[in-house]
Amino acid sequence: MICKKFILLLLSILLCINMPACASDKPNTDNIHHSSQQDPEDQNPGENQNPGENQNPGENQNPEEKTEPGVFNLEKGTVMLNSGYEMPVLGIGCYLLSNSQAENSVYWALRDGYRLIDTARIYGNEEGVGKGIKKAIDEGIVKREDIFVTTKMWTSDFGNGDAAIEASLKRLNLDYIDLMILHHSQPSNDVQAYQAMERAVKKGTLKSIGLSNYYEPDDFDRVVTATTIRPSILQNETHPYHQSTVMKNHIAQYYTVLESWFPLGGRGNTQTLFNDTTISSIAKAHNKTSAQIILRWHLQAGNIAIPGSSNESHIKENSEIFDFELTAEEMQQLTSIDKKQRFADY
Ligand SMILES: NC(=O)c1ccc[n+]([C@@H]2O[C@H](COP(=O)([O-])OP(=O)(O)OC[C@H]3O[C@@H](n4cnc5c(N)ncnc54)[C@H](OP(=O)(O)O)[C@@H]3O)[C@@H](O)[C@H]2O)c1
Repeated sequence: MICKKFILLLLSILLCINMPACASDKPNTDNIHHSSQQDPEDQNPGENQNPGENQNPGENQNPEEKTEPGVFNLEKGTVMLNSGYEMPVLGIGCYLLSNSQAENSVYWALRDGYRLIDTARIYGNEEGVGKGIKKAIDEGIVKREDIFVTTKMWTSDFGNGDAAIEASLKRLNLDYIDLMILHHSQPSNDVQAYQAMERAVKKGTLKSIGLSNYYEPDDFDRVVTATTIRPSILQNETHPYHQSTVMKNHIAQYYTVLESWFPLGGRGNTQTLFNDTTISSIAKAHNKTSAQIILRWHLQAGNIAIPGSSNESHIKENSEIFDFELTAEEMQQLTSIDKKQRFADY
């Protein structure tokens, strides 16, 4: 009897060694913009543990696939979030786009290889974004699981977070949102809104959650200490003239990644950055545009960038930043032009 059991065990070990399914598949790194998500089995951190706890990032990953949270992989064009999800590091921003502009920009961006989309309830274009996504999916350009959709909860909805999340899902025409962030700090009820997002993570309608427009470490910590899921992202105004160094260093302890809004300075301010002599001379040296140099700087500095555009050729141009690298000296030169100067006043 014992002998029979031993033979059976030996046979199953031998079978397993020869079957590829028994070996863990390595993540596909073929295409820097495509397939940003991990195997869905590895994706839902809520499945194996209580998402209500501030977990150690990357805890659920297969050890063979383990990627350091917060470290940018510019070969793949992604960063591992503290939620265990992989996020593309370059996206299309949709601020100030009409519904039809957003539909076009999102469609062009997905066609050009972008896999990250940034919108917000207050932009009034979530429907357009949803249509652009649907068009790209219908045409076989992407699958839902290949893309990463971000939207934001507006301050006037903070008292009614559960309904706000449902309404965004409906407008976007999606079953889940990859990342939702609170649009602005609002001490009176942002914790309440964040807790609504935590409930949605448990339900599976939100995958990762984060914050936007928190410019003081204490203000950020106020939300962190009152809640249980660490913010995956802090989205703040960030560009070469406002490099957000203090907040970036502060949030690193939580493995929270900085995402740059106004990555090119924002509408009406872009020429100030494009004509900066440091930026334009580096652009000349690489035979690239100033916009491409600034975007590449964001990625090498460890900032996710979501340049906004309604212009088809700008969208393409902004995607062509994975075929060159800034030297350490150029990165240093760009670091030195920080003026701690914001272009927006909110
Ligand atoms: N969380 C927040 O509070 C917040 C605030 C603001 C923005 N955001 C998000 O961040 C995203 C980025 O910010 P943003 O769109 O305001 O500013 P931005 O990306 O810094 O700049 C957008 C401007 O750059 C121009 N542009 C883009 N690519 C260009 C290129 N290659 N050459 C020349 N011009 C180019 C666009 O014009 P064209 O349309 O002509 O290309 C537009 O005028 C937004 O779209 C939004 O998703 C978040």
